[in-house]
Parts: sequence; structure tokens; C-alpha cells
Amino acid sequence: MAEAINKVCVIGAGVMGAGIAAQAANAGVPVLLLDIVPKEGADRDAIAKGAVARMLKTEPAPFMSKAAARLIETGNIDDHLERVAECDWIVEAVVERLDVKQALYARLETLKRPGAAVSSNTSTIPLAKLIEGRSDQFKPDFLITHFFNPPRYMRLIEIVTGPATDAAVAAKVEDFVDRMMGKRIVRAKDTPGFIANRIGVYWLSTAVNAAMDQGLSVEEADQIGGRPMGVPKTGIFGLIDLVGLDLMPLLNASLSATLPKDDPFFGTLRPAPLVEKMIAEGYTGRKGKGGFYRLDKRPDGSRAKLAIDLSSGEYRPERKPPPLPEGADRDLSALISAPGKTGAYAWAILGPVLSYAANLAGVAADDIVAIDDAMKLGYNWRYGPFELIDRLGPGKFAERLRTEGRPVPAILETAGDRPFYQVVDGKRRHLTIDGEYAEVVRREGVLLLEDVKLASEPLSKTASAALWDVGDGVVCLEFIGKMNALDDQVLATIQKGVALVKERYKALVIYNEADNFSAGANLGLAMFAVNIAAWSEIEKLVAGGQQAYKALKYAPFPVVGAPSGMALGGGCEILLHCDAVQAHAETYMGLVECGVGLVPGWGGNGELLDRLGKAPRAPKGPMPAVAKAFELISTAQVAKSAAEAREMGYLRPTDAITMNRDRLLADAKAKALALVEGYAPPEKPVFQLPGASGRAALANAVHDFGLRGLATPYDVVVSARLAEVLTGGEADLVDTVTEDDLLRLERREFLAAVKDARTQARVEHMLETGKPLRN
Ligand code: NAI
Repeated sequence: MAEAINKVCVIGAGVMGAGIAAQAANAGVPVLLLDIVPKEGADRDAIAKGAVARMLKTEPAPFMSKAAARLIETGNIDDHLERVAECDWIVEAVVERLDVKQALYARLETLKRPGAAVSSNTSTIPLAKLIEGRSDQFKPDFLITHFFNPPRYMRLIEIVTGPATDAAVAAKVEDFVDRMMGKRIVRAKDTPGFIANRIGVYWLSTAVNAAMDQGLSVEEADQIGGRPMGVPKTGIFGLIDLVGLDLMPLLNASLSATLPKDDPFFGTLRPAPLVEKMIAEGYTGRKGKGGFYRLDKRPDGSRAKLAIDLSSGEYRPERKPPPLPEGADRDLSALISAPGKTGAYAWAILGPVLSYAANLAGVAADDIVAIDDAMKLGYNWRYGPFELIDRLGPGKFAERLRTEGRPVPAILETAGDRPFYQVVDGKRRHLTIDGEYAEVVRREGVLLLEDVKLASEPLSKTASAALWDVGDGVVCLEFIGKMNALDDQVLATIQKGVALVKERYKALVIYNEADNFSAGANLGLAMFAVNIAAWSEIEKLVAGGQQAYKALKYAPFPVVGAPSGMALGGGCEILLHCDAVQAHAETYMGLVECGVGLVPGWGGNGELLDRLGKAPRAPKGPMPAVAKAFELISTAQVAKSAAEAREMGYLRPTDAITMNRDRLLADAKAKALALVEGYAPPEKPVFQLPGASGRAALANAVHDFGLRGLATPYDVVVSARLAEVLTGGEADLVDTVTEDDLLRLERREFLAAVKDARTQARVEHMLETGKPLRN
């Protein structure tokens, strides 16, 4: 176990320093954030203070909870630098200037504790240069930790150590950024731009140049250069809009200053009058007035999507290109050999970019896995460069380069016809620089379903869910449908899982590795049933969900939910039924049914009421929990982190949070196993609910919202249905309402809601546009 880091100092409170400080605070660790003394104004700490204040208003939020901001103490480097002696790790994130960074390290040298780590967040300056002039006592404590922007949300961190870096110091920092800050570490060599930005910038420049040379529109370029290559659907131009057009010249300048002059990167540099003009006029992308794409407000308030014409520089209405030739959207080989501009453009990107990446194996990284990971996590590629070459066939790819008289990268010669990755005995192996195969090793303690799948068959599988043996007597329930939507097949798999675990396992975890845990019940299927008025089918689905979730709750073994990403509606309800939740820090959960005119129908009302009533410091009497649940559900509030879910009451204080997504399954499994000994299922709750009087109070509040324009007329109706459930229907204060009573009420109100044409209009609108209808 590496030595712990109990306090962090971040120097430089700009975009990156502030974000890094926030992420360390999100991990629950105190942070000292320092910047320079401003030239004007009386407050000498104003820059760092301002950074924290700004972050509290930024969206998407750098803080997982507003409470985390209180862990950051602010100051300035003139008055407070000696306080670095309190810190175990000092992160330098000042301007990208060698002289400024070196001067700072010279001061740190005498102030910091020996053994306290110092790392630079530089994006381009080699470590060898940064430590020039430092003592032999300082050098072992120094390394580079290159975070990506924004530090909370980008999972990649590139770490560079030098020949003098002490392995124990590096291990201490790596352990912290992995477990506490949730990053996946990619070890990079000490070369300019490291891995991701070096390939990423080359990729974007190559793609922009080729689009201009081949006379493609931005829409055509993004269609070909986006999804079919496993690149985010924004494609090339959409991505530049997202990161900011002004960042490109900056990255180009810093790479120009540091890369060796024979690097192919220099071949991508050319005058870019259009981009310069756009930046000068404030068209810097989404953060500015727009970029290659722009949203324009029409006089009637609606919005028109415009795109820039690359030759004239004028905006015109967006033009959706016709679909790609058959197969080209799925098969990479078909894409690069497609006729016309599709194949020509795809190859103009993949030929040079994959060659460039291949040439960096052994140069920018010791192995190909680091390069693939860097592009997947730093640029959101679905496949890394070597995985893409595998899809084309390394032999075929090299052959095409050879035929066109282009140089073939050494690692491709080494590979020959062999793939870069292969699976042997259930283990993934990668080709090494020496031409051997070596196992892809995860960091200690990481368990991924992705790896389990290579080594085993599912215990059971339908189109929507699967059960896996994840070792030590634990079964994993995985959702696999589109958006991980929940349907009757998921419910059947739950029942199967319960029976299976009862028979021969110890515990169950509910976990998957998709972007989102679950978007809730499959509304498309529900609408299909509505359209043919198959009410009994819908009733069956509601009752079936209730039974399946209660089967989980009262199973004679522990059930642990392990969400990451969105856990909405039915996806949130299933978590409310678990004995414990081990949530990834980036979990966004909420009961959003009212947004589509429904009420929670799979037991979520009772579960939420029960846990709000039992929350620490919960006020006495039935009304506070009812009012709180009503507020959360009627306004479809979604927690924007696991920490927030805990504050809102969706998670209990005993539920735990995992910062690194790669560690979620292992943590969930450990939590489940810890509950096995002496496990007894929970007692059935009995509710005391306020009945008609409580309902009147809630109705008053909603009526008020309606008058103030905060609730639509149908919101008032939906809220009344919800209030009916939460207050216990006909119950009165003295009455005790059983869980089954509540489930019956929930079914009744759900059915009434789903039969209402106004609910159907909301659901259809959501399915078509992904946005709520405010009817
Ligand atoms: P920034 O310009 O937003 O912030 C730099 C901050 O450093 C400013 O607040 C400035 O007042 C402060 N500063 C300057 N000299 C200082 C000194 N001697 N002591 C203390 N503070 C000082 O810059 P940004 O973007 O946050 O970049 C910081 C570092 O992170 C740079 O090395 C950059 O290359 C690197 N980086 C930037 C990324 C980005 O997307 N912006 C991504 C990854 C790395």
C-alpha cells in the first residue's frame, strides 16, 4: 500500500489548477490553492478565491457537492508558499512557461518537506527541462501529472517520471490520482505533448486539412470522420467547436516549439485564414458565438442550426448529407474503400493518423495499450489507434501504405499479419514492441466485467440482461439493452438471478459498464402497448416490476447496486431496493417519471418514503418525509453526483462511493461479501401516512406553483396522482399502511396516468425529441 496523501497544494488557480483542486476536494481531501497576488485590489488572495467562487457557478459543475468547496483553502504565493510544508503533494498548474515553472520549483525546494511529491501539469514541456538546476534532493520527488480538461470529467491522466524520480513517490501520487481522484493512469514517456494531445492534434489538423482539400462540407466530414470511426458523434468540426477553436493554435504553437523538426506534425501546419478570422470575431465554438456550427435564434424564438461554408466562410442552414454507402457506417474496411468522397476522406484521415500513432509505439509510450487508452480516455475514441488497425487488419493496412509508396511504421512490420490484440485462455494480450505478446495487466484491485466476459460464458442471457459469475460466490446482473432500458426480459432475468444465487451463490451485484446504468423502463415498448390499448399487458409489466424488485429486496442474500452514469426512473427504483449501494462518484440518479406524466410504479415511492423517514436527523411525524419525497419526485429532481444523491436522500449514509469507475465492481463485490455473514433480509416497513389532510397541503403547494407559472396544468394533475400515493390514499394519520397497500395504490395511479392522453403525449415527445413536453 502506497503512503497516503492527506493534504494537497495546487499552485496556479486557472482553468486546470482550480479544476484539479476541486477534484481533490471531491475526494474529501483538504486542499491549499495558491495563485499570484493580483496587480490591483486589496485582497491578496483574490485570484484563488475568485476561482473557487466561479467554480460554484460553473456547469457542468467541477464540484460534486457544494460542500466540497469548503475543503479548499485559498491563498497567494507571496504570503503562503511556506505552507506547502503541510502538504504531501504539490501540483504545479501555472502558465505554460519554463522560466515561471523553474522559478517556482526553486522556491519550493527549500520550503517543502523532503519526500513530499511535486508534479507539473504541463501539457508539453519535457520533465528533463523542468528539473534543470534542481538539487539531488528535489529530483526524486518530481514527476509530471498531466490532467485533461475538465479534470472532474476527463478520466485520463498521463504520468511521466524521470530517471531520478523515486518509485515510492510516483506510487504515492499514482495511488491517489487513481483511487481518490478516479483517473485511469497512462504512463507516458518524456516526449513533447506526451501521447493523447500529440496524436489528437495531428488527427484534428489532418482531418480539417483533408476536408478543405477534398471540398467536403463540415457535415459530410463529420458524418464520415465521426461515428463510423468510433469517434464521438460530433465528428471533427463538432469536436473542435466543443473544445474551442482558439485552443488549436495554442496547441499547435506549443507542439511546434517542442517537437523535433522532422516530425510529420509540421506537415499539417498551414495558414488557416478562415479559422483565424473566426477566432478574431469571437466564433470560438460553443463557448463563444458559435463555431463551425452555430445555433441561430429566429424571430419567433425557435432555433435554426447553421453550418459554415468552408470555402466562402459564410454561414448557411445545416445540410444533412445522404446516408453513407451500405456497410460503410459499420465496417471500417468498407469505409476506407467506399467509392467517392466517403472512402477518399476516410483514408485521408486513417492512413496518416494511424501511421502517426503506430510510429509513437516505443517512442511516446512503452506499449500500444497506453496509446490506445490515451486516445479512448483523452479524446473519447471508442477504439484506440491499434484497435482500429486491428479492425482493418494490420497486414492489409501496411499493404495499402506500401502500395501507395508511403512508409510503413516499424511496429506494423513487426506485426506482419498478426493482430495487435488477441485473446488466449480468456486473457487479452497485446503485441509488444519486441514482437512478442504480453498480457494486458490492470492495476491491482481492478475488476472489469469486460475481462470477465473474455474468460467465461454468461450464466444466463436475454436481449436485455445477463447474469455473470464474477467470482467468490458473487453474481453480477448486467443490463444490456438499448440505453439499458428495463423491460419484461430484465424482470425475468432478475427472478432467475434471485433463484440462482439462492441455490448456489452468496450475493448479487447489479452493475454494468455502459455509459449509463439505466435510463429506466422501456417507454417505447410501453407506448406500443398503449397504442393497441393492451392495458392488461401494462398492468402485468407494472406488477412484474414490483414483484421482481421486492424479490431482490427480500432475497435471503445481500444485493448491492453499483451504478455509474444515469440511473433514472426504474433504474433509480432498483437501487432503492438494494441492501446497499456502491455508487460511482459520477452517478446521476432520480425518479423522473412525473416528467413524462407518470408516477414511479416499481415500488420507488415506498422505498423513498421509508429511507427519508429513517434518515439521520429526519424530523418526527409522517408529513416531513412525505413532503420531501413529493418535492423530489414531482419535480423530477436528478442528483448530479453520488455525493448529491446522498444529500438528497436517494442514497443512505451507509452507501459508499467509488471515485474510479474501474474499481466499482471490485468495491461492490467486497461490499456484498461483507454483508454475507449473518445476513437477514430487511423487515417489511409499515407506513404512517397523513391521508386526506396531507393531500390537501400538497395540493395547495402545487396550486401555488401553478399560479406562479412554475407548474403546467397537467403538472397539477400528475402531482395529484403522486400525492394520492405518497399520502396513503384513503388512509388517515392513525392508519398504518402496509407496503402492499402502497404498491396497490402505486399501480392504480400509474395505470390512470398511462391511460391519460396527456401522459401519452409527453412520452411520445420524450421518445421523439429526448426532451420533456410541458403540457
Ligand atoms: P490558466 O492561464 O488558466 O491559469 C494559469 C494560472 O497560473 C493563472 O491563474 C495565473 O495567475 C497563475 N500563475 C501564473 N504564474 C504563477 C506563479 N508563478 N505562481 C502561481 N500562479 C501563477 O492556465 P491553464 O490552462 O490552467 O494551464 C495551466 C497548466 O496546465 C499549463 O502548464 C498548461 O499547459 C496545462 N494544461 C492545460 C490544459 C487546458 O486544457 N487548459 C490541459 C492540460 C494541461
